[in-house]
Amino acid sequence: MGYNVAIDGPAGAGKSTIAKLLAKEKGYIYVDTGAMYRGLAVHFLDQGIRADDVPAVIRAVEDARVEIKYEDGTQQVYLNGNNITSRLRSEEAGRMASATARIPEVRKKLLMLQKNLAKEQDVVMDGRDIGTCVLPDADVKVFLTASVEKRAKRRYDELKEKGESCDLETIKEDIRKRDEQDMTRETAPLKQAEDAHLVDSSDMTIEEVVRAIAALCK
Ligand code: CDP
Repeated sequence: MGYNVAIDGPAGAGKSTIAKLLAKEKGYIYVDTGAMYRGLAVHFLDQGIRADDVPAVIRAVEDARVEIKYEDGTQQVYLNGNNITSRLRSEEAGRMASATARIPEVRKKLLMLQKNLAKEQDVVMDGRDIGTCVLPDADVKVFLTASVEKRAKRRYDELKEKGESCDLETIKEDIRKRDEQDMTRETAPLKQAEDAHLVDSSDMTIEEVVRAIAALCK
């Protein structure tokens, strides 16, 4: 059994940045489960499927083969044999991922993949339901959050740095919508596990958050 660290939280809380740094420091593998939902989202977008056409999403899930590989320590997502990692971070893929992650068949497709990655290696895995559903016996669980304003600003900076055009108010609205969607869905909603440590990163630097979580780990 590997040593498992679970980090859950809403969009833009800083999960991936923190998890990557923690993984590097501790020698764990960083498993980004959001990238897997985004991978399926790219598949739905490519097929012109709408998120509210649930039967079409379920059919498309059946012919999607998602594989996770690690190249130079970085997670790569393959969809039906093609590396689609560079397409995962668009707002369009994020919106489609959130809208389809409520469908049980979508979650089921990725659950075993996630559990298996954590079985034999030391991992820090981030997502929405890691501490509650995917790794209920994780050694350390963290619920990482921050105010909507701070999260929107971070997402805005991330997109701007990549040269994508964006608008802060639109991002804020998008984050609110995504929070609502992720927290109120029936299957595996975003919520803090009872035994998770709450970390509010609104007024913390990245380094402070990494230190706080590293102190909880072996
Ligand atoms: O980076 P960001 O927080 O915007 O999103 P992400 O972690 O890449 O996840 C994209 C979407 O996938 C989320 O809005 C969730 O709806 C869904 N997701 C999920 O349902 N369960 C997970 N374990 C991870 C992501």
